Amino acid sequence: MSVNKDLFETVLTYPDPAMQARYAALCGLDEVQAHLSKEAETLLRPDLLEKWSKDHHGTHLPAIDLLRRRPPLIIFAGDVGTGKTELAMTFADPLARAMDLEIELFNLSLRARGSGAVGEMTRLISNAFAELRARCPKLPDGGRKPTGAAVLLIDEADALAQSRELAQMHHEDRAGVNALIRGIDDLANAHLPCLVIMCTNRLSALDPAVRRRAAAVFDFKRPSLVLRKKLLTDQLAGTRLTDKEITALADMLGESKGRDYGFTFSDITQRLIPAIVLAAYPHEKITGTLALRVAATIQPTPPFKAE
Ligand SMILES: Nc1ncnc2c1ncn2[C@@H]1O[C@H](COP(=O)(O)OP(=O)(O)OP(=O)(O)O)[C@@H](O)[C@H]1O
Ligand SMILES: [Mg+2]
Repeated sequence: MSVNKDLFETVLTYPDPAMQARYAALCGLDEVQAHLSKEAETLLRPDLLEKWSKDHHGTHLPAIDLLRRRPPLIIFAGDVGTGKTELAMTFADPLARAMDLEIELFNLSLRARGSGAVGEMTRLISNAFAELRARCPKLPDGGRKPTGAAVLLIDEADALAQSRELAQMHHEDRAGVNALIRGIDDLANAHLPCLVIMCTNRLSALDPAVRRRAAAVFDFKRPSLVLRKKLLTDQLAGTRLTDKEITALADMLGESKGRDYGFTFSDITQRLIPAIVLAAYPHEKITGTLALRVAATIQPTPPFKAE
């Protein structure tokens, strides 16, 4: 089925082997991944909660109705380059496999933020939710498994869901936030197997009414020494760097005198490691000395300041 390019940048279908590999390459997110898969599974498959309730308590617990009524919104918040977009783009793969369902992910286009013309943002957001509702399979009655599920990804959500409290907020933006809140509520009321994921660097800037609706908020952080070591060990596998050399490198990428923050995941995967490879290419091999020398020339991205 064709997709409206004004509304969605891409529509991806899962399971997808490329996304499976990218999901597996994420490190240090085990807790988030485990919690997220439970949240997502129970939001998309209320029939499984029903079965659990009957199996373990012999009855339909009122508590599961509370879970069912929650808006299907999950927020990924935190520092730059810590895996929010990467997890959002890939988590549907293991989910689709575990639930034996096809999942479609709709990536809301930045263009959907509109050009500021009166009513445009509101119209685009309302249309995006309407298209999502139309394309998402319905939840079957009688506790049966749905035939498919959908995820709406709103990346850089603070640009869209900025607090209406901000005095300088343009009237048109406020209307856009209202449309967003309405869209999320309509999804909840329609009981569709559908999830909305919002990513943001600035949780505090999100509209309180949007935050309040979140079934879960996950906090993403820069990697600790242990995680930096794991990432370097994975990504430099085959280079024969010793454990001591990897530790020295990981240590150098942490906080230091005069700098109270270390490298982000993306500083390591997108800047440091490519720079190490290019420093060795085409005539040398990667050594611990070379890696440390390159690391000394790269500065980590400063943390995102709230205001
Ligand atoms: N936990 C992680 N494990 C391994 N690699 C990671 C992890 N987090 C990020 N990366 C690497 O960094 C790249 C950028 O990550 P991503 O785009 O998800 O960051 P982000 O949190 O969305 O940042 P921003 O807030 O700037 O949008 C990824 O493509 C991946 O290579
Ligand atoms: Mg991102």
